[in-house]
Amino acid sequence: MARKSVLDLRKKKADNDKIVMVTAYDWTMARLVDKAGVDMVLVGDSLGMVVQGRQDTLPVTVDEMVYHSRCVAAGLEQAHLVADMPFMSYQISPEQALMTAGRLMKEGMAQSVKLEGGERSAEAVRRIVQAGVPVVAHVGLTPQSVHAMGGFKVQGRSEVDAERVLRDALIVEEAGAFCLVLEGMPTDLAAEITARLDIPTIGIGAGQHCDGQVLVVNDLLGMNTDFKPKFVKHYANLEQTIIGAVETYASEVRDGSFPDHAHSFNRKTPRKIAKLY
Ligand code: KIV
Repeated sequence: MARKSVLDLRKKKADNDKIVMVTAYDWTMARLVDKAGVDMVLVGDSLGMVVQGRQDTLPVTVDEMVYHSRCVAAGLEQAHLVADMPFMSYQISPEQALMTAGRLMKEGMAQSVKLEGGERSAEAVRRIVQAGVPVVAHVGLTPQSVHAMGGFKVQGRSEVDAERVLRDALIVEEAGAFCLVLEGMPTDLAAEITARLDIPTIGIGAGQHCDGQVLVVNDLLGMNTDFKPKFVKHYANLEQTIIGAVETYASEVRDGSFPDHAHSFNRKTPRKIAKLY
């Protein structure tokens, strides 16, 4: 089965068919979300937090993104693979942006790349797209600018700020992005952007009127229930399931009931040996 292309994703917007995106960071999860039928898998730089346990996404390197993207690529049969461009891997110059995008495509085996920022990233988007690499842009709450925003804060709440976010969205579409993530903004602003753009919008904390939605897979599976921002819905409580399963394993190891006969190997012809145990 072929992986979904940019044309398939653009058609979904035209057909009013919602786009489902989740993050994944390794082969095991990629295989599962692909089987669940998601349309797009994002190897997000959110891996800095959910895989590496950092406070934010800033320390993530291009080498790390390439590594995780390659792991995810191995698990996908039908979903489109997008890889994030990490902090300071595209901000310096359009040439730097193109080099990073090239590595994510060649070594990370991604089908498209994602970068943050509207007007400030337009030249980078243009340069990458000119080279034949599809770009997903990302506006609103842009986590790589956490310090400039003074925290992970919803953007576009005032009239002036909403105008800025809308302008950012229009500029990256004009620069050639084929898809746009709208993060952390009021529902009506995301709805207006979605209606004004020809390219599909994918929301996270941006309400229900986007052309699609994305969540961090660890969040939707409830793998860390201490982290529960308003926009996250837990569709499972894997935290409890995993802790419970490992506790049962530990107690069976400790009381000697694992491994039992069914989980052990036996000789075809048992040897007659002195009883050792
Ligand atoms: O890094 C990430 O996972 C993201 C999504 C939350 C959109 O950028």
